[in-house]
Amino acid sequence: MALVHMRDMLNHAYRNGYAVGAFDLVSLDFLQAIVDAAEKCQAPVILSLAESHFDYFDFELTMAAVEAAARRSTVPVAIHLDHGATLESAQQGIRLGCNGIMVDNSLLALEQNITATRAIVEMAHGCDIPVEGELGYVAGVEGEDAERHPGDIVYTSAEEAWHYVERTGVDFLAVSIGTVHGRMQGEPDLDFERLAQINEALNLPLVIHGGTGLSPTQFQRLIANGVAKINYYTALADAAGEQIAANLSRGARGYTQCVKDIQLAIGTEVERCIRLWGGSGRATELMQQCRPWQNVEHLIFYNLSCSEQDAETVIAEGERVLATIPGVRQVFAGKTLDESGQYRYCWRVQFASAAVVDTYRDHPLHVSYANTYFRPNAGDRVTLDFAPALGLRLQQGADPSTDQQIAGHIS
Ligand code: 13P
Repeated sequence: MALVHMRDMLNHAYRNGYAVGAFDLVSLDFLQAIVDAAEKCQAPVILSLAESHFDYFDFELTMAAVEAAARRSTVPVAIHLDHGATLESAQQGIRLGCNGIMVDNSLLALEQNITATRAIVEMAHGCDIPVEGELGYVAGVEGEDAERHPGDIVYTSAEEAWHYVERTGVDFLAVSIGTVHGRMQGEPDLDFERLAQINEALNLPLVIHGGTGLSPTQFQRLIANGVAKINYYTALADAAGEQIAANLSRGARGYTQCVKDIQLAIGTEVERCIRLWGGSGRATELMQQCRPWQNVEHLIFYNLSCSEQDAETVIAEGERVLATIPGVRQVFAGKTLDESGQYRYCWRVQFASAAVVDTYRDHPLHVSYANTYFRPNAGDRVTLDFAPALGLRLQQGADPSTDQQIAGHIS
């Protein structure tokens, strides 16, 4: 299993002077190319899914493949929702398997941005999931969609950034220092002095959006000034597009001929970035210092003392309500096949992480359901929470001091 806590991953990159690539993916070809390149380089990687791309693929279906790819990968992987706009989209991302969330309220006024971001941070932290906020405005939209993001660059100021991080509790900050999303016209002029001031004020992993088009020297200077995550998409889309055009010019017909070798084209660019940003060869050390990301199974075996008809209401209401609680990934209501067994019914509620055990128990929707429907009828029950048995070995390698160190810098 190689799905790891994204907070641990980026803190490691930040402390060790390299950046992890967050590569936006829009198809299985992108997914395979990104993971293969990371494995080839033995580098950590972030599989990133941008809300602005959800017109092009089914988020839920794609996430099933993304999670499977992350879990079977031999390098540390995190799964990130990129540019999530609302609390609902953050909650959906967590339900589908993201273990890092970006909140993009950067077009709102500062106080509104803080309020909206704070609400998402509270929800995500209740699931032990880190949040990336954005302050200032990185213009453009990744890849083909530039026209969908209006406005000019608004630069991040160090003072506002400090205020924003303190008030929202975000774990990483995306800063605006001159990059733009999408295709660059010439080399952008980046404000490294501003970046250095922000880094000194915050001392937490910084994020750069709009990675396409920057020079090797610019990347090095970004990383030297606290950038630990670089978002990258357009160059990958262009590499895939150029490969398709080349295939067509050579007489390709039909789907498989047209997309032939696009994984190679995307993977070559991903590999170039990983090596340039210093992630190459970091996988083993990082795995030893990162906590594995583990879902938890919340199991309840129970009998109901009410009528069959009321039992159906108890179960249907649970299915309706429990799935909406933040951090809940799946709800299964079961009835035993063996009626002579000790318990007739079960709940299997999958939580995104162990932290959800507490937040779920105390969530008003759970409390109300449990007190109104469940507990009065299910006095005979046993409740147990399980994490993957073998995943615990990795957990012992974690560095629990990391979060305190970073938090200590901010205050
Ligand atoms: P580019 O498309 O410019 O590489 O930017 C990607 C990005 O910032 C995704 O959030």
